[in-house]
Amino acid sequence: MIFQPQLKILISRDEIAKVIDRLAREIKRDYHEKQPLLIGVQKGSFVFMADLIRQLDLPLELDFARISSYGAARESSGKARVVQGIKTPVKGKDVLVVEDIVDTGITISFLLNYLRKRKPASLKLCTLTDKPSRRRVPVSIDYRGFTVPNKFIVGYGLDFNQKFRNLPDICVLED
Ligand code: IMP
Ligand code: MG
Repeated sequence: MIFQPQLKILISRDEIAKVIDRLAREIKRDYHEKQPLLIGVQKGSFVFMADLIRQLDLPLELDFARISSYGAARESSGKARVVQGIKTPVKGKDVLVVEDIVDTGITISFLLNYLRKRKPASLKLCTLTDKPSRRRVPVSIDYRGFTVPNKFIVGYGLDFNQKFRNLPDICVLED
């Protein structure tokens, strides 16, 4: 490898798999007579989404939205905007938003407000990781995988400058 970053495993692939089993059980219990529309937040949630939906034997639909708040930096700009909206109609659907991480909460609260205006029957949030120490906007999380410390994490879909999304474990990037 040309660039050898300092990576330390924070959450192993086995721990991730166990937590996804638990989240899938919670979701199946709540949506067993429903046909939820799962909306992933691009790009970070795609690995989590792929593993989660394969544990959900529900007649679900799937779409992705792309919200921009972080640039290439680690700090949120404090603003968010929809870069690519979803094409599936939301009105009357049981919508479950799937996120990789809730950090300041700016991105996800923006998306939740955007979706709420489109009148879903219900709207819930599932996040693989939660970094509550950095919250700037209150967010109500219905399904939470892990609470993580105030460290920058990569892997399992999460990036730093678009790199490391392919790591199978969640790692801390140390500089
Ligand atoms: P928020 O708007 O501050 O909650 O940030 C949400 C987005 O920032 C997430 O969807 C991630 O894409 C990114 N993000 C926040 N913290 C981290 C991290 O520790 N590692 C990688 N990406 C992060
Ligand atoms: Mg994200």
